[in-house]
Amino acid sequence: MLPDRYAVFGHPIGHSKSPLIHTLFVQQTGENIAYTAQDVPPECFEVALRTFHAGGGKGLNCTVPLKELAFQAADELTSRARQSEAVNTLVWRDDKLCGDNTDGIGLLRDLTENLAIDLSGRRLLVLGAGGAVRGILRPLLERKPACLVIANRTVSRAQSLAARFAALGPVSAVGFPGLQGLRFDLVLNATAAGLQGELPPLPDDLLAPDGDCYDLMYADKPTAFVRWGHDHGARLSVDGLGMLVEQAAEAFLVWRGVRPRTAPVIRRLRRATATGGE
Ligand code: ATR
Repeated sequence: MLPDRYAVFGHPIGHSKSPLIHTLFVQQTGENIAYTAQDVPPECFEVALRTFHAGGGKGLNCTVPLKELAFQAADELTSRARQSEAVNTLVWRDDKLCGDNTDGIGLLRDLTENLAIDLSGRRLLVLGAGGAVRGILRPLLERKPACLVIANRTVSRAQSLAARFAALGPVSAVGFPGLQGLRFDLVLNATAAGLQGELPPLPDDLLAPDGDCYDLMYADKPTAFVRWGHDHGARLSVDGLGMLVEQAAEAFLVWRGVRPRTAPVIRRLRRATATGGE
């Protein structure tokens, strides 16, 4: 039987690890699927979507910069996609296009299950107030932190996010200068600054003793923020590779009803990075 077709759409997409991750899931679960990566500029998204479905495609992942377009294209949305206003997982059910967002649950699983970082009663700081942050605030607040502060270069964006999620927990907003004198148990970087190897301006004493750093971005070398964590006494300072694998596993579950084991896949990708392979 021909495999069911899935793909990741993004722009650019050349360095995506998603095809390798899903190939490893297929080897593990025996599901009969083929998963490819397709470079889709935003202006071609609608056409690419229709063509893929007309060719028998069953589901998609969407990554930067297509998550908002995927949100708009979906006929139906899960509550986590609606709250994020972004979709990273699409599936056709009875010809209806259903949009989901597995980024938040992916982050939460990596933090709490893979890294054993406790969130309840802890002081959390999120750097950035863009699309990536919208998807993670609800799962973080549901873990009942003592507080969650959003710090952003443009304070008004942080303030409007804090206002939108205020009903879910103790969330507040500051600009980067407002971080002076504050201490946090976990700092999550969700700014795009790292793309240029930059860092937001952070006070040296931002981390509480035994505090952790987590960068939602990942790269083959330690990111600028992961290095900042190591240099400032973080207990753990890790990138978002685990989140990437976890969001993929949740998408696989949405499509196939089977959740792959993630630990061996994360280990395999870390090994490939360390040896410069794949
Ligand atoms: P994403 O969907 O990846 O979150 P985005 O919506 O464009 O992308 O948001 C990018 C985030 O990175 C924003 O919080 C942005 O800050 P502003 O809202 O002030 O623009 C932040 N960002 C980008 N470059 C940055 C830099 N050099 N220093 C600090 N923050 C930066």
